[in-house]
Amino acid sequence: MRLRRLLAVGAAGAVAVLGISTAAVAVPIGHAAAPASSGQNNGNGNADSLRALAQRVGLHIGTALIPQDIETPSYAAIGGSQFSVVTPGNAMKWQIVEPQPGVFDWSQADELVSFAHAHDQLIRGHTLLWHNQLPTWLTTGVANGTITDAQLSDLLHQHINTEVSRFKGEIWQWDVANEFFTDSNPSTINPNDFWVSHLGAGIIPQAFRWAHAADPHALLCYNDYNIAGEDGSNAKSDAAFAWLKQMLAEGVPINCVGDQGHLDTQFGFSPQRMTQDLQRYASLGLKVAITEADVRTFVNNATAQVPTDNLALFAQPYEESQMLKSCLAVAQCISFTVWGFTDSDSWVPGFFTGEGYATIYDVNQQPKPAYLDLQQDLELAAHGAPHRSGAGPF
Ligand code: XIL
Repeated sequence: MRLRRLLAVGAAGAVAVLGISTAAVAVPIGHAAAPASSGQNNGNGNADSLRALAQRVGLHIGTALIPQDIETPSYAAIGGSQFSVVTPGNAMKWQIVEPQPGVFDWSQADELVSFAHAHDQLIRGHTLLWHNQLPTWLTTGVANGTITDAQLSDLLHQHINTEVSRFKGEIWQWDVANEFFTDSNPSTINPNDFWVSHLGAGIIPQAFRWAHAADPHALLCYNDYNIAGEDGSNAKSDAAFAWLKQMLAEGVPINCVGDQGHLDTQFGFSPQRMTQDLQRYASLGLKVAITEADVRTFVNNATAQVPTDNLALFAQPYEESQMLKSCLAVAQCISFTVWGFTDSDSWVPGFFTGEGYATIYDVNQQPKPAYLDLQQDLELAAHGAPHRSGAGPF
């Protein structure tokens, strides 16, 4: 087993001391094991894994992981060998970590952290302030008035402090706030959002301050979908940019912006705009990341997930690849994360009726054209993409 412990020290910026102990290494499926002496610090010695190729330009390639990925050996082999940063798909959401008031269940989150240690991976914490996947006791209490707004604010403070403190020093990037902007044009902070409607928009910067107090070295991110060129009008990106600029001017500890990158081939998107929007956030002094990339399309059924439109076979890998290229073009883009790596456990068929084929491995965990395109993009990137630096503890 390969263990890695991040100990954040130092005042300005995150400085890490890496204590590494090494024993056996895992062999990824579909690839021969490279000699252990290959010099690649990629957890498996496989020089053409996504993580190894990305490392040449200082980029981290990530995936969301759910318990099934960690507990199924064939999935875990891919999850551990191809990616250098992992995000818990659900395990760190409030609903999971505090199912009853004051009763904490860290088992799934701990499982994810152990997996990351064992595979020499960084962790993106996800997510502290979001309207979805809240515990029922919280939403019911607010709805029936047994939890007042003042108590709600205290509960949130406690939640953020408890969770961020528990994983202090373990989390590279925290998605502090998730999905606050409307999809309208112009876009605004959603006044009807659960948190905003009860506590006002000031609760968002407050969440960043609370998270910063609990772990001053974690990179704290604002995360949302369609904030990097995907919505056609760019209204949502404009709103997010203006808000971030204002927050930074007010000294709010925000360090990064995550664009989720959930695309759908029926809508298309502008890769040029994505690059420009990522660059624009970076111009504020922020790091940027693609945090939940997937590209869905219509399929025959949720099990086989064969695209019904032949052109989707081209559009799907193209859009996935274009997102990576946008990230590669911006030196401040420090990680590119896919929201699950295999179609067999993607969230897409369960959430978007009739759609699927959204990830980079097929339903039998075989690499799809999207995987090969990402691999090729990363190979070529080593010959010209800017090197990322100063991103944190690695
Ligand atoms: C999704 C998970 O993948 C599902 O398993 C869960 O049922 C719902 O949430 N944006 C986010 C993620 O920020 O947390 C969501 O994850 C997908 C959309």
